[in-house]
This record gives sequence, structure tokens and C-alpha cells, in this order.
Amino acid sequence: MFSNDLLKGKTVLITGGGTGIGREMALRFSELGASICILGRRENVLKETCSKIRENKRPAFYHVCDVRSPEEISSSLDFFIENAGMPDILVNNAAGNFVSPTELLSPHAVDSVLGIVLHGTIYMTLDLGKRWIKASHKGVVLDIVTTYSWTGSAFVVPSAAAKAGVLALVRSLAVEWAHYGIRHVAIAPGPFPTEATRKNLFPIPEVEEMLSERVPLGRVGKMEEITNLAAFLISDGASFINGEVVTIDGGEWLKGAGEFSGLLALSKEQWQTIREISRKKS
Ligand code: HXC
Ligand code: NAP
Repeated sequence: MFSNDLLKGKTVLITGGGTGIGREMALRFSELGASICILGRRENVLKETCSKIRENKRPAFYHVCDVRSPEEISSSLDFFIENAGMPDILVNNAAGNFVSPTELLSPHAVDSVLGIVLHGTIYMTLDLGKRWIKASHKGVVLDIVTTYSWTGSAFVVPSAAAKAGVLALVRSLAVEWAHYGIRHVAIAPGPFPTEATRKNLFPIPEVEEMLSERVPLGRVGKMEEITNLAAFLISDGASFINGEVVTIDGGEWLKGAGEFSGLLALSKEQWQTIREISRKKS
């Protein structure tokens, strides 16, 4: 889809790059010529992802970091800058989420999700952004949100509130920091099953099936579909895209929003009846 040097000379920092979509982005961006920096809480998954990248003789660095801690973020950035140079691109991908009736949540459960998704994203953006501004270094921030950032969603309320906040951050800083040469973009994925979503969000097969059926294209997303979109958005090819969120969900959220989308379930016979009734002159 792209020339292999699309991201040559770029250093990309991905939070939560040891698993799932973050890991897939790390592998794809590396194939396209980028140096990779990843962080997260678990060393084993970060190490494994870096080893996989280095097998192809490509540069990759990791640092253990909980994005809820500004101090840990600062140490990670010091480490990456010393070893890989100033990151040119930040992908805020780390997240925490689980399905639960909202009335069963404790304040700690709420703080846990808001802390990772909202505070973690702001802390990362702020620390690296200040360094970029001080060094007059141009940059791109890509935030991974969800389609319920603007619709809200039952049963994942802390995540919905946090992702809505992240989208507001993208749109606000797209304006405020553009004159520093810093671009902000976001991706809103529909269902892309990963180990974590299977554990925390679709823990029983019925839920995963239900989600596929909601998608007009009749399936969940494939990893290469989201990694290629991300590669385009962070590349110089997208240099005039700023403050935009791109949805990649097979049409899922629009189907939910359309008043008559449920009519997809009607049979040919029912449509025939509707046609006859609605054409009858009164
Ligand atoms: C209710 C829960 C819970 C659950 C945890 N808690 N899981 N409450 N239902 N399923 C509560 C705990 O009881 C505790 O509160 C508080 O949350 C914090 O729990 P910890 O385990 O101590 O938190 P922590 O170790 O910080 O882990 C954070 C986490 C965990 C969010 C709870 O799930 C995590 O690390 N997730 C990272 C991976 C992940 O979620 N990926 C999915 C991203 S997908 P008390 O009061 O008991 O102390 C996504 C979008 C999907 O975001 C969209 C799909 C279409
Ligand atoms: P994932 O594999 O769980 O990825 C989340 C990553 O974030 C993990 O590597 C995790 O690593 C890291 N992380 C969590 N808490 C952290 C913390 N406090 N500090 C640092 N890192 C932390 O899930 P995923 O499905 O790939 O999701 C990736 C992104 O896509 C998320 O932003 C998610 O909201 C979004 N998204 C996913 C889907 C989907 O269907 N998969 C749909 C819509 C949006 P550690 O646990 O080791 O820290």
C-alpha cells in the first residue's frame, strides 16, 4: 500500500505498544522505516515486541512506564531521547476498560480507567509537547479513541467519558499548537478483537458475535486495516490533516444512529407488504 520508506527517519513512540493494536502499529511502522519506542507496565510484552522488530535489524526501544505517573513518563522520555533521539510522533494508544453495570463501579474502578485513558494521554502529550516546543521540533500526535467518544455507551461509562475527553484534547490542541508545527489526529476504531478486548469486553462468545452482527460490513476489523490508516495519518502525506478523527468501524456506529437501520432485519415478504401499503392511494 505504501512505499517502504514512508516513515524513514521518523521515531515513533507508542504507549501500550507491547500488545494488541499498539504492537501491530509498532511492527507496521517499523516495516515502513520508523525507529520504534514503546512503553507500558509489563516488561515481558514490551521486550518481546522489541525483539520481534530487532529480528528484522530495525531499531526498537522499550521502557517500563505507567502512564498515570508523570514522573515515570518523564523518565521514559529521557530514556528514549537519549537512545533513539527525540520522538517525531506520539501515539497515545494505552487504555484500560471493562464492561460493568455503572452502579456497580467503585470510585477506584472509575479512577483506574480515567487515570490511564484521560490523564495518561494528557500527561504524555504535555511532557513531550513541552519538549517539542522548547526544541522547536515539529511533531504529530495520534490518539486512539472509540466511536462512543461522541455517542457515549452504556456499560463502559468511565471509558466513554475518558475517550470523549481525549477527543476534546485532540481538537483543542490541533488549534492551539498548530503554529508550533504540531499536528493532532485521532482514529476511532470499531471492534478489532485483541487478547484484551476478549478478556475485558467480549468475555463470552455471544458478545463478540453480537458486535460483528452490528457492523454493516458483517465482520470485525483486520489489524492491517487500522495499522495502514495510522501509518498514513502520521506520515507527511497527511500533513494538512489536523484535528480530525477518522472512524474505522465498517459503518457500525452510523447503523446504530440511523432511525430506520433496524429495517435491515426485514424479510422480502415484509418489504413487499410495506411497498403495497405505502403505495396505496388514500
Ligand atoms: C468492575 C472492576 C473490574 C470489572 C477491575 N475493577 N475490573 N470493577 N468490573 N471487570 C475495579 C477493581 O475492583 C478496583 O476497584 C479497580 O477497578 C482497579 O482495579 P485494579 O485491578 O487494581 O486496576 P489496575 O491494575 O490499575 O488495572 C486497570 C484495569 C485493567 C483497567 C482495571 O482492566 C487493565 O489493566 N486494563 C488494561 C487493558 C485493557 O483494558 N485493554 C482494553 C482496551 S479496549 P476496587 O474498588 O475493588 O479497588 C478499549 C476500547 C474497546 O478501550 C472498544 C470496543 C469496541
Ligand atoms: P490492549 O492490548 O489492552 O492495549 C492496551 C495497552 O495499554 C496494553 O499494552 C497495556 O499494557 C497498556 N496500558 C494499560 N494501562 C497502562 C498504563 N497504566 N500505563 C501504560 N500502559 C498501559 O488493547 P487494544 O485492544 O489493543 O487497545 C488499544 C487501543 O485501541 C486502546 O486505546 C483502545 O481503547 C482502543 N480501541 C480498541 C478497540 C478494539 O476493538 N480493540 C476498539 C476501539 C478502541 P500494560 O498492561 O502492560 O500496561
